[in-house]
Amino acid sequence: MLKMQDIITKKQLGRELNEDEIEYFVKGVTDGSIPDYQISALLMAIWFRGMTEEETITLTECMTDSGEINVLSSVIGKKVDKHSTGGVGDKVSLIIGPMVAAANKGVYVPKMAGRGLGFTGGTLDKLESCTGVNTEISAEEFESIVRELGFCIAGQSKRLAPADSKLSAIRDVTGTANCIPLIAASVMSKKLASGSDYIVLDVKCGSGSFCKTMRDAEELARLMVRIGAREKRKTIAIITDMSAPLGCAVGNSVELIEAIRVLEGRGDEELTELCITLAANMLYAANVADYETCTAIVEETLYDGSALKKLAELVKRLGGDERYIYDTSLFEESNVTAMLVAEKSGYISGIDAYEVGKAAAILGAGREKIGAEIDHTAGIILNKRIGDRIEEGEALATLQAKTLERAQSGMEHLFKAVTISDRKPEEKKIILRII
Ligand code: URA
Repeated sequence: MLKMQDIITKKQLGRELNEDEIEYFVKGVTDGSIPDYQISALLMAIWFRGMTEEETITLTECMTDSGEINVLSSVIGKKVDKHSTGGVGDKVSLIIGPMVAAANKGVYVPKMAGRGLGFTGGTLDKLESCTGVNTEISAEEFESIVRELGFCIAGQSKRLAPADSKLSAIRDVTGTANCIPLIAASVMSKKLASGSDYIVLDVKCGSGSFCKTMRDAEELARLMVRIGAREKRKTIAIITDMSAPLGCAVGNSVELIEAIRVLEGRGDEELTELCITLAANMLYAANVADYETCTAIVEETLYDGSALKKLAELVKRLGGDERYIYDTSLFEESNVTAMLVAEKSGYISGIDAYEVGKAAAILGAGREKIGAEIDHTAGIILNKRIGDRIEEGEALATLQAKTLERAQSGMEHLFKAVTISDRKPEEKKIILRII
């Protein structure tokens, strides 16, 4: 008879777990028969000892099978999902879902998104900044919106990979989130269970992500692509820079507003480039056309207003006021606005994504505990990007918070995040590698 103590000890000694042991573990996580302290102990042993590729594949398969499979079976057509491994200022899902849907090429984007935790933001929190939006909808409603609009962004169905929901919640609070086999199994189990035919992965690399080095990002990307291929899903991984925040806004309503600017065709250049690359890859993965044509198709959706219209339609379907999408002055303003100014002249040579994420959380944009309230108006708007020239006393960033105390603490953190140097730094690309 299998015992959790023995499985934990085996992994602690660095030995490979077999299929029965992994299956026993995932079943116990799903039905609640294994207590959290034993789950945490095994996760920590995995964090230290790692997993072989075979173990990771078995874990992914068991997690996929922990709930319903092919939950989007009523959506007839090509389904493409994009998943980011998490970062700071990452509002990409809010942009590319509408872009691919507006392309109107028979490719559906059923995006089950998450909430922010710790220093990383969550797509659902950002979308809910728009008054009235409710992202906690039923699976039936989700499918109906996907069929009608060509895409939907909402909360993960409780039926989809429930083992992942439980494991992710424990990993978040036990220091085991940044573990390559656990991230791969978490991401891929959800993608496989949802029944997406094509998967585009945005693997973040840098201080504001779980993979701090290119070596780790590549290992994770290749592992997930191999898992996808084994399960006969066309999977593309794009490794992108997360050493600095993505775009200029970090928070909730500020990020939704920045997403709207991109959809209006007048957004941050780097963010726009990344969204076009990811959206084009989604169409390309679904065999719509050659890559150049896919790029031209998705670009057009930003300039003819069709992608923006799609976002407004989604907001309306989720119970929100779509006028916000066309008039961002309607978004609620924060109580306190503070300005961080440069202490010296020079070039911006670093904006540490991790520190910016922490500063935004302190301002009120993030949660320290699952389920805690967040302040949708809190956040940071960066006036300068890496490589920009700044003069002493010039405004570097605007901070928004509910109270002066929060604004002050956030300011202290943000101050530490920014480096000003005498020399202009070398230009860094946003898209680092495609796998
Ligand atoms: N995204 C996920 O879904 N899971 C992880 O473990 C990390 C990022």
